[in-house]
Amino acid sequence: AATHKIAVLPGDGIGPEITAVALKALTAAGKAEGEEFVYTEAPIGGAAIDATGDPYPKSTEEVCKAADAVLLASIGGYKWDSLPNAQRPEKGLLRLRASLNAFANLRPAVVLPQLADASTLKREVVEGVDILIVRELVGGIYFGEPRGFKEENGERVGYNTMVYRESEVERIARVAFEAAMKRGKRLCSVEKSNVLEVSQLWKDVVIRVSKDYPEVELSHMYIDNAAMQLIRNPKFFDVVVTGNIFGDILSDEASMLTGSLGMLPSASISEPGKPGIYEPVHGSAPDIAGQDKANPLAMVLSAAMMCRYGLNLPKVADRLESAVTAALDSGFRTGDIMQPGCKQVGCQEMGEVVLSKLQ
Ligand code: NAD
Ligand code: IPM
Ligand code: MN
Repeated sequence: AATHKIAVLPGDGIGPEITAVALKALTAAGKAEGEEFVYTEAPIGGAAIDATGDPYPKSTEEVCKAADAVLLASIGGYKWDSLPNAQRPEKGLLRLRASLNAFANLRPAVVLPQLADASTLKREVVEGVDILIVRELVGGIYFGEPRGFKEENGERVGYNTMVYRESEVERIARVAFEAAMKRGKRLCSVEKSNVLEVSQLWKDVVIRVSKDYPEVELSHMYIDNAAMQLIRNPKFFDVVVTGNIFGDILSDEASMLTGSLGMLPSASISEPGKPGIYEPVHGSAPDIAGQDKANPLAMVLSAAMMCRYGLNLPKVADRLESAVTAALDSGFRTGDIMQPGCKQVGCQEMGEVVLSKLQ
C-alpha cells in the first residue's frame, strides 16, 4: 500500500460538480485496493483569475509539480470570455500543459455496448468502435510564434503560426507507434501535407519513425478526409496520431460515436519523472453548470486513466471502469446519454450509483 499525492484542479463551470463525484469514487476504489490518495486542491482558470488575477498562479504550478499526478476537471466560462487572450482561463490550461511538458494527449473513444444506441449515428456504424487519438499537446499552432494582432492598410490583422520541429513530431510519433503495438497495430497519421509545409515535415518524420515499427500498418490521411471517414467508417481507425489543433477537433467529433462528450476521458503524458495531467475531453459546459445535470463519467474515467498510466495502479483503474459500466448496466443515465427505458439521474445521483457499484 502506498500514498499518492494528487493535485486536484476543479476549475470552472461543471468542474467542481464532477470533481466531487470523481474524488469520492477514487477514494473508495483506492481503499478497496489498500491505496491512499492525498488531495491538494488548487485554483486554475476563471476560479484562479477571480482569486489571484492569474489563470495559472505560481502556487498552483508548485502544487502540480510536487504531485504524482494532476487531476483536472475543466476551465472557462462566459464571465471571462471577453478578457484578452493572455488573461483567459484557457491560457491557464495551456500554461499548465506547457509547464509540465505534457506533450502526449491520449484520447480514447470507446463505444460501450450499453451506449451504442445513444450515438446520433446508426448502431451498426458505431458498435465495437475503439479508437485512440494521440494528440500532440504542447506545440503546433497553439504555441507557435509569431502570433498576435497588427494594423495593416488601415485594418486589423490577426495571425498565428503553425510550427513543428522534427524532435517534437518524432516523440509524439513514438508514443503513437508504441500504443499501436499494444493494440491493433494500425496507425493513421492525420495532417494537411497537400497544403502545409509543417504537415509535410510531420509526414516525413512519421514515415522515418515507422521504420522502427515494421509490424505497424501505417496510413496517412488529410484532416478533411479524416473528419469524414471518422463518421463514415469509424472502425477503420485504431490509433490516430495528429497535431494539436487537428487532434482537438477530431476528438470532439469522435466523442459523438460514443454517445456523448460527457463520456470521454484523457491522459496527457509528460517525460518520465514528471506528473501527467488527467482530464475529461469536454469543457466547463457553462450552459448546464450548477444545475446538477453534468455527466460525471468522463471525469471518473479520467481518474481511472490516472491510476493506469500515471500511478501504475491498474487494479484501482479496473475497479473504477467496472463501476462505470455497472452503473450503465443498471440503466442509470444522465440527460446527455438518456435513452428510452432508462432512469434519468443528475450528476450527484450518478456519483452515488457509481459509489454503490464500488462497494
Ligand atoms: P463544452 O465541452 O464545455 O460543452 C459543449 C456541449 O457539451 C455543451 O452543450 C455542454 O453542455 C455539453 N457537455 C460537455 N460536457 C458535458 C458533460 N460532462 N455532461 C453533459 N453535457 C456535457 O464546450 P464549449 O461549450 O465549447 O466550451 C465551454 C467552455 O469550456 C469554454 O470556455 C471553453 O474554452 C472551455 N473548454 C475547456 C476545456 C477544458 O477545460 N479542458 C475543454 C473544452 C472547452
Ligand atoms: C481541450 C480544450 C482546450 C484545447 C482549450 C480549452 C484550450 O478544447 O482540452 O480539448 O483546445 O486544448
Ligand atoms: Mn477541445
